[in-house]
Amino acid sequence: MLFENKSTSVFSEQTVYADRVKLSILNIYGENPKACVVTFGCQQNVSDSEKLKGMLKMMGYEITEDWALADFIIFNTCAVRGHAEDRVYGNIGKVKQLKKDKPRLIAAVCGCMAQQESVAEKIKKSYPYIDMVFGTQVFHRLPEFIYKQLNGSPRIFELTLDNSDIVEDIPVSRDGTYKGWLPIMYGCNNFCTYCIVPYVRGRERSRDPEKILEEARAMIANGCKDITLLGQNVNSYGKGCDHGINFAKLLRMINDIEGDFRIRFMTSHPKDCTVELLDTIRDCEKVSRHLHLPFQSGSSRILKLMNRYYDREAYLSLIKEAKARIPDVSLTSDIIVGFPGETYEDFKETLSLVEEVKFSSLFTFIYSPREGTPAARMADPVTREEKGKWFDELLRLQERIAAENVKNYIGKTYRVLCDGYGSNEGFVTGHTSGTAVIEFEGDEGLLGKFVNVKVDLYDGTLKGTIIK
Ligand code: SAH
Ligand code: SF4
Ligand code: F3S
Repeated sequence: MLFENKSTSVFSEQTVYADRVKLSILNIYGENPKACVVTFGCQQNVSDSEKLKGMLKMMGYEITEDWALADFIIFNTCAVRGHAEDRVYGNIGKVKQLKKDKPRLIAAVCGCMAQQESVAEKIKKSYPYIDMVFGTQVFHRLPEFIYKQLNGSPRIFELTLDNSDIVEDIPVSRDGTYKGWLPIMYGCNNFCTYCIVPYVRGRERSRDPEKILEEARAMIANGCKDITLLGQNVNSYGKGCDHGINFAKLLRMINDIEGDFRIRFMTSHPKDCTVELLDTIRDCEKVSRHLHLPFQSGSSRILKLMNRYYDREAYLSLIKEAKARIPDVSLTSDIIVGFPGETYEDFKETLSLVEEVKFSSLFTFIYSPREGTPAARMADPVTREEKGKWFDELLRLQERIAAENVKNYIGKTYRVLCDGYGSNEGFVTGHTSGTAVIEFEGDEGLLGKFVNVKVDLYDGTLKGTIIK
């Protein structure tokens, strides 16, 4: 083996628990014990949930979407904004009734929200019907936790966040066949002042390149055509490791795997986005022409308060570089409106940056204070109502820009991966190498295949025709 891997043995302990659980649940629930995984939050959580499902299947559970049928239910939660947390509380409240109907139901809460001690405390006191709460770095111990619950253990609260080695070899039950998630690193070291992620996900840890390549090869062999590499800041992949492989090199190594597939990645932090990475995107034919590069605010004053390590000028010159090196690049971004102390003057700088760059699409959020972060202690005089007005102004601007952008597609031909059904029967949709979605005539048989489509018109959706 090329790279040393210290972590494989950790999961093997869990396989022993999994075998025991398998025997017990057959006795308790009969032939077909069922488990339901409810996921909130980002792709990282979706990917973790695929591992929760993998472990549950290994224990003999069948996966169901129907809460009422479940013998085990788990909520994999997100803490990034207050709204995300409110939704989780609303949902776990429903477990009370589920347990009345099915007293042997086991209920768990895990993920980023569960990692916060204040949340675990609240669940301990106010949601007595939740049997286990565990954090983001111990979720591979699910078989052990279920085994203990089945054997009369008291409620489990396990929030260890010790940044130990990444646990490999957890079974994965993937939600899709031709599109898949591939985590390359976990955690975040950036501590943007508004953000809870570094506190709930712990420090940055990169997977061994050999493990990533092994997983990529297996995905491709199983028919995957679109792999999204995941990390809070993929650009810092490999930092602190002695293998010397940075993110650009990793992309090249994956690009070299044989087969017809596409590589996407998210998220990139502008402070670590190098010219080497831009050139790699340009040179690697399998790497999608898309760069999600969150700028958060167009005001250098606010960026400094956010602890983002770049200013407006640096961001704009990076964008200029990206557009020059990758002529057909699609750019997308995240923006926070109403950071503490932001004035309308600051916000106007966000608007002008959006106007200047012409992003394909934006993910926009109104600032949400997160307990324990520095920004939550900053004065925040602007009302929610005022922030709402700014937010709407930003949305209107982006709608106008997106409508202008879309005109550039008409008459051109794109290679798309057919990956969904269209709005009318007999039509399917496909994603370009960037971010556009095109609808065209076709049936189920095209799903998961690459086709060339010429864009004919835009009527709220891009419509096209297959070119043979
Ligand atoms: N690691 C990624 C982002 C993860 S969170 C990155 O740095 O790009 C996704 C987005 O949520 C962030 O980019 C930010 O725009 C938004 N976000 C994070 N914390 C927030 C908060 N407290 N309030 C509002 N939006 C927030
Ligand atoms: Fe949060 Fe910043 Fe880390 Fe992204 S880079 S996860 S916004 S702290
Ligand atoms: Fe939410 Fe955790 Fe992702 S806080 S955005 S699920 S890393």
